[in-house]
Amino acid sequence: MKTRLSRQTWTWLIAGLLCSIAQAWTAEPGAAAFTRNCAQCHGNSPEAVGTQQLGRTRGKDKALLVGRKDLPKEYVRAVVRNGLKAMPSFTPAALTDAELADIAAYVTR
Ligand code: HEC
Repeated sequence: MKTRLSRQTWTWLIAGLLCSIAQAWTAEPGAAAFTRNCAQCHGNSPEAVGTQQLGRTRGKDKALLVGRKDLPKEYVRAVVRNGLKAMPSFTPAALTDAELADIAAYVTR
């Protein structure tokens, strides 16, 4: 009985894997940028100060940024560029307009 996979089988497996990664990546370009720039404060954890603060001041259902349907994209962009209380601002050098547009679309989708 042959137990090792042939080289061709491996090639197909790896090609399939790469395709699904590429698909996930292009489907939500804002997700990766959100993870890099915002998740440490707006993720789903007790250490995430943004999530905690929004839960206290806006209400439990508004604690998590991702999935908020009440925030206009323009507002998200303005908060990120200007900062808000404990939240620092992000310059275009730190976060490009394109990345910010992707993040705003991801958060409010
Ligand atoms: C260092 C922590 C920190 C980081 C990093 C951070 N935030 Fe915040 N964010 C906060 C805090 C704290 C608040 C609550 C401000 C307040 O008290 O009004 C907040 C509030 C906000 C609000 C206002 C929500 C509302 O209901 O009014 C938006 C929008 C927002 N953040 C978006 C982002 C995005 C997008 C990123 C990433 C580009 C980000 N934040 C990164 C800490 C952070």
